[in-house]
Amino acid sequence: MTYAGYQKILCMVKKVMEKQRTLVLIKPDGVQRGLVGEIISRFEKKGIKIVGMKMLSVSKDLAEKHYGVHRGKPFFKPTVEYITSSPVVAMVLEGYNVIDMVRNMMGKTNPEDAMVGTIRGDYAQFIGRNIVHGSDSLDTAEFEINLWFKPEELMDYKRIDEDWLME
Ligand code: RTP
Ligand code: MG
Repeated sequence: MTYAGYQKILCMVKKVMEKQRTLVLIKPDGVQRGLVGEIISRFEKKGIKIVGMKMLSVSKDLAEKHYGVHRGKPFFKPTVEYITSSPVVAMVLEGYNVIDMVRNMMGKTNPEDAMVGTIRGDYAQFIGRNIVHGSDSLDTAEFEINLWFKPEELMDYKRIDEDWLME
């Protein structure tokens, strides 16, 4: 294949890679166990851009809205109690296909099933103490980002390493 042909294919591939934003939470156990830096560092080292970040105490109202899809399930109440029990760190991360990328880096919901090398696989043991949250789809990400952040809390900027990260 010629270099021009290779460039053309690369352009086509790039078109299917979608720039996305996702909501990530470091849950109360992640904060209490001193894992904030470690978790943020994993995303930073991967080259994922942080476009919003804050620490907050989660109200019952916010928690119930966030976990609204799980209302009626047996774990709804304990999960709301867990996320409201102590401060969390909330972040919006941006990048190509970042929603799935972050979910893969987090590992399976139940840390027992999460692969070693993932955040939950390396640092958590129980499903009700699984230290991180990440949006699971484009629609969920949009809903959750609007729920947790005001538009003016989100930054648009170019990271100096972007040209070296992307082909
Ligand atoms: P998350 O929303 O926190 O990123 O987790 P997820 O998508 O991997 O899992 P999801 O099904 O959305 O569940 C939300 C959170 O509820 C708690 N959970 N407990 N005991 C249980 O069976 C159970 N199932 C879910 C977990 O804290 C989970 O992260
Ligand atoms: Mg979820």
